[in-house]
Amino acid sequence: MNDRRLFIKKSALTLMTLSMPMVLSCKTGAAAKMNPKKPTKAIVFWYSQTGNTERAGRLIAETLKNHDLEVVAGEYREIDRESVADADLVIAGSPVYYYDVPANFKRWLHALPNIEGIPCAAYVTFGGTGGNQHNTACTLLELLADKGGAPAGMETFGNMSTFAITWSSGNVNRVLKYKHLPDKNAYDKMRDFASLILNRVHEGRNFEIDKEIDFRELIKATPSIWSTKLCITHHTIDKKKCIECGTCTKKCPVDAIDLSKHHVDTDRCIACLGCVNNCPAQAVDMAFMGKEIYGYNEFVRRNNIQIRLPKELSLKPSAL
Ligand SMILES: Cc1cc2nc3c(=O)[nH]c(=O)nc-3n(C[C@H](O)[C@H](O)[C@H](O)COP(=O)(O)O)c2cc1C
Repeated sequence: MNDRRLFIKKSALTLMTLSMPMVLSCKTGAAAKMNPKKPTKAIVFWYSQTGNTERAGRLIAETLKNHDLEVVAGEYREIDRESVADADLVIAGSPVYYYDVPANFKRWLHALPNIEGIPCAAYVTFGGTGGNQHNTACTLLELLADKGGAPAGMETFGNMSTFAITWSSGNVNRVLKYKHLPDKNAYDKMRDFASLILNRVHEGRNFEIDKEIDFRELIKATPSIWSTKLCITHHTIDKKKCIECGTCTKKCPVDAIDLSKHHVDTDRCIACLGCVNNCPAQAVDMAFMGKEIYGYNEFVRRNNIQIRLPKELSLKPSAL
């Protein structure tokens, strides 16, 4: 038994060691050329389950407004897809989920209209380290470039992870290590990103998408989601605790929850944890390998964490 375990461990390590140095530089093919331009209308849209990507998107939008641009900003489900082609700067934001851009957001981006030659930029928010963040930002920018957008830049912004399984499995300190984020430096990085993109657009300077292929890029999305799904041993809505607020159904990006029956379609579920992370009544019953999971909002409350806002988004004196 021990020999078998050792063999599996060794094989996994060998695979990782073989793929880690295999960090290839993979430049994306010809993207649309950007012509120097003073943009006047920008659109900033994002996907966000627990607010990190939204906060970054709103700050980027405010920074662009401070540069006298007219800006439309919102969650992708609030954005009129066709209007994206009317902007002269497009910025998209996504969280990194399972080493990738979440499938629901990808689907929406695939259906964007042609944005030929319009400068575009991408940012991702992530938690912890080593989660394929750089490549995910590349993927997001590639999706815009596939629609004809001219890449102007990309960035990654760190946060406390919202992957509820980590703290529910006892690894609380691994998450709390980042509880100070976003701090002043993180917000400055977001402001600088917006200004840098604007400069590049003024100068007509294309950005080259340079993806690194490592083992996480190979096991991203579906394989990762499936391995999590296999370990989710229970996923229902507790009728007694449910306050029928509809937060879980609104947050679920794949319509897997039927609140009238307090039922979760677990085949449809993509394990984004949006329901458990956001339920204000802790009515989502979910277990990972038999252990009960509690969500992000509850984690923040239990640990007395204050997420500070940038001054542009808050009137409170504690803003950064
Ligand atoms: C289901 C799920 C999967 C995640 N996977 C990754 C990952 O692969 N890499 C990473 O760096 N962070 C990962 N995270 C952390 C999130 O990317 C991070 O907390 C992000 O800022 C959340 O953004 P949001 O609040 O806008 O939804 C994951 C979080 C969740 C809930």
